Amino acid sequence: VRVGVLGATGFLGGELVRLLAEHPEVEITAMGSRSNAGKRLSQVRPNLVGAADGPLEDLDAAALADRCDLVFLALPHGTSALAGSALRAHGVPVIDLGSDFRLKAPADHVRYYGRTPGAPELLDEAVYSLPELTGAPVGDLIANPGCFATALALTLAPVADADRVLVSGITGSSGSGIAPSAGVHHSLRRTDFKAYKPLRHQHLGEVRQLLASRGAVPSIAFVPHSAPVARGIHVTAFVEGVSGVIDRYRQAYANSALVSVTDGPLRMGAVVGTCRAEIGVVEGDDGVVVFCAIDNLLKGGSGQAVQNLNLRQGWPETLGLPLIGGWP
Ligand SMILES: NC(=O)c1ccc[n+]([C@@H]2O[C@H](COP(=O)([O-])OP(=O)(O)OC[C@H]3O[C@@H](n4cnc5c(N)ncnc54)[C@H](OP(=O)(O)O)[C@@H]3O)[C@@H](O)[C@H]2O)c1
Repeated sequence: VRVGVLGATGFLGGELVRLLAEHPEVEITAMGSRSNAGKRLSQVRPNLVGAADGPLEDLDAAALADRCDLVFLALPHGTSALAGSALRAHGVPVIDLGSDFRLKAPADHVRYYGRTPGAPELLDEAVYSLPELTGAPVGDLIANPGCFATALALTLAPVADADRVLVSGITGSSGSGIAPSAGVHHSLRRTDFKAYKPLRHQHLGEVRQLLASRGAVPSIAFVPHSAPVARGIHVTAFVEGVSGVIDRYRQAYANSALVSVTDGPLRMGAVVGTCRAEIGVVEGDDGVVVFCAIDNLLKGGSGQAVQNLNLRQGWPETLGLPLIGGWP
């Protein structure tokens, strides 16, 4: 399958190229960039020397339609809607790693992102795909989940009938993308620690939407934090009003190649660099705590996008995905 990657110079785009370059069923035939068009990708992403090191190009939808059977979008919020609707108008299947096609209700775009949807006519066609919970995606416009949303949904789905869930989460600086700014620069995060968007993180919209489609949505109080690490997400959920919890997780993910369940806390470093998710459960007299760890750029982004491609094409689910991490 001939694929294109738009936003190839970004953190998710670069990780996509890294995975797709070694994927046995895929040929990368286009790598899109606006500000770096004309350069080779390895001039911007030194880790990609020798891996699909073709030229970066500023391509329109017609050119992409000639060269690609499917295009991944790894673009900023608001930009995917434009690129996605142009590509769909040319009949090109799209997997979008951004947020523009995740929410169904236009009112939720306003509530969680503060703006009306950029391509409202495509919201019905878009298929939100977190494979462990939604199955193999069928369709030509796949909305890949957000990074925190992936960890939250995997954590909450088996206990969605709980009365209330309190969640504290941490994320690494790569979650903010490649462009440094005063609020997210790694050198400032390196020596600091802070909560951000307490109780109002934008990914709560897609998590509530997904849980509602499965039947039950608990009250979710979520506080994310910026941690002094480059990649990785770790969430800690205090679950109220349910019991027999570890068996629920073991059952829910029994057939999952990428989610493992353990009795006890986790090491986030064990999943960084992999497309796996780990879930840990601790049940005691004073409550139930569930932990989940993922790599935000892999299971939380590019790896899950390749997992979605694999399932859409009918290939083995984990084809081309890293499953074993480094240590440290
Ligand atoms: N980082 C994560 O952990 C993560 C996880 C899941 C989902 N996401 C989502 O995935 C998307 C990409 O995230 P990212 O972290 O990879 O972002 P990023 O590092 O900022 O990369 C985005 C890329 O898009 C290109 N771009 C910027 N503005 C553009 C525009 N107006 N039109 C076309 N291209 C433009 C830039 O490349 P050029 O300047 O070279 O054109 C840039 O390298 C975002 O929607 C993000 O919310 C991120």
